[in-house]
Amino acid sequence: MTTHHPSAVIILAAGQGTRMKSTIPKVLHRIGGRTLVGHALKAARGVSPTHLAVVVRHERERVAAHVAEVDPGAIIADQDEIPGTGRACECGLDALPADLTGTVLVTMGDVPLLTQDTLAELTRVHEEAGAAVTLLSAVVEDAGSYGRVVRDESGALLQIMEFKDAKRHQEAGDEFAHVVGITEYNSGIYAFDAQVLRRALSQVGMSNAQGEKYLTDVIAAAREEGRVVQAHPLADLWQTEGVNDKSQLATLGKELNRRVVDQHMKAGVIVVDPDTTWIDDAVSIGQDTVIRPNTQILGATTIGADAIIGPDTTLTDTEVGDGASVVRTQAESAEIGPRASVGPFSYLRPGTVLGEGGKIGGFVETKNAQIGAGAKVPHLTYCGDATIGEGANIGAGTIFANYDGVAKHHTHVGRHSFVGSDSVLIAPVDIGDGAYVAAGSAIEGTVEPGQIAVARGRQRNIDGWVDRRRSGTPTADAAEAARASGSRHTQDAPATRHTGASNPTSDPSSTQES
Ligand code: UD1
Ligand code: MG
Repeated sequence: MTTHHPSAVIILAAGQGTRMKSTIPKVLHRIGGRTLVGHALKAARGVSPTHLAVVVRHERERVAAHVAEVDPGAIIADQDEIPGTGRACECGLDALPADLTGTVLVTMGDVPLLTQDTLAELTRVHEEAGAAVTLLSAVVEDAGSYGRVVRDESGALLQIMEFKDAKRHQEAGDEFAHVVGITEYNSGIYAFDAQVLRRALSQVGMSNAQGEKYLTDVIAAAREEGRVVQAHPLADLWQTEGVNDKSQLATLGKELNRRVVDQHMKAGVIVVDPDTTWIDDAVSIGQDTVIRPNTQILGATTIGADAIIGPDTTLTDTEVGDGASVVRTQAESAEIGPRASVGPFSYLRPGTVLGEGGKIGGFVETKNAQIGAGAKVPHLTYCGDATIGEGANIGAGTIFANYDGVAKHHTHVGRHSFVGSDSVLIAPVDIGDGAYVAAGSAIEGTVEPGQIAVARGRQRNIDGWVDRRRSGTPTADAAEAARASGSRHTQDAPATRHTGASNPTSDPSSTQES
């Protein structure tokens, strides 16, 4: 089978989109991690056209800047004040070489589910028929306000009649009165012969119900030239759906997600609850990875095989290695190594790199932190601007104090070092390989390999303080009872709700030694 590459794709994106009720231009709204026009560009690029043009007018600067960012090779074509899809297309052609020949595809910037496969199929059907125009159509029960596909008795395409014009004919009761009832509609996606398109557009007028230059009028014009025109019905209606308001934005976003999630499942990913799993369309996930409910996998995130992600996890632009486990976590621009473990309730900010088999545990926040293979930051820690060597252990409640109010500073904890719980590392700090920090320390200097740094007040016990300063309280009574029993503790096992002689802990006379 030969692959057919069009000479050009023209994406129409000059329309206003008033029904979006938004300060954001319609085609810059996003679903699946990509703008609407970004989806159109992706599908268009997928068929490798020689030229790719985007026609803009409304919010020209913002749309043009975005197109330049996501597809620097795309040509920006400006539509002038003459309205209509035909004029938009003409302005697109004007931005392309004057001697352009071959197939020109026309698509729309607000139809995000259209795929490159459909565009390739359209190109093939068009070129194999030697047609001047091939439009994608679809059949529904009620074609609403779409342009109607008008065919003759033999089924050959005659013309497209816009809904508003069909309405007029219905009211006039003339020979076209039935057209409004036609259930096959024009999707607005076409393949044209470049030269026929240019010629026909120069002849198309604006005497219609909307006073616009209609692209659809090219069909009748090409037919009059004696050229083949055809409508190619597409069974997958979603691919022809446009976004006009925020409700359609959500509906198409959900359907796109359903398709993306389904593709991942077909490729071997285990998705426990597709309904609450959101995956952007650029994400890659390895086989047998389990995605648990309420999880969002966004941006350019890549996940290896046999990993566990979720529940309740949001990963943005994050890389997760094979066999890693990421539970109830929010991560952005982070790297989680193979077989590493993150969560629950972890917050990984940009620049977090967790080595193979490492651990970031519950209620830990990290930022710009390289944590070595097998190193552990298991509980209740803030770790910012740090390098932690392999096999190191950061105790519960450790704070990397990286900010002095003016500048950020770095902390280095060496290989197989051990930072005791509730320490504050006041950066810049350098703790060598194989060193210890005693629990509860405030560290502000260097610790050499093999040393332990102790930086905390010494414990001082004052005899009789409770009797003197808290007499008559339950605390004083407890102290008295313990001293009387000759032990440091009485009854310190919790009383259970069970009664009954067989349960020794319910016996009030029992005492426990610690
Ligand atoms: C058009 C078709 C109609 C088809 C429908 C499918 C014409 C005359 N009619 O309807 O047969 O059923 O699409 O959705 O073509 N645009 C511009 N410049 C303009 C006008 C529109 O760039 O001056 C762009 C819009 O941004 C949009 C696309 O063209 O992406 C279609 O415009 P829209 O107004 O939605 O199409 P209709 O004219 O309603
Ligand atoms: Mg319109």
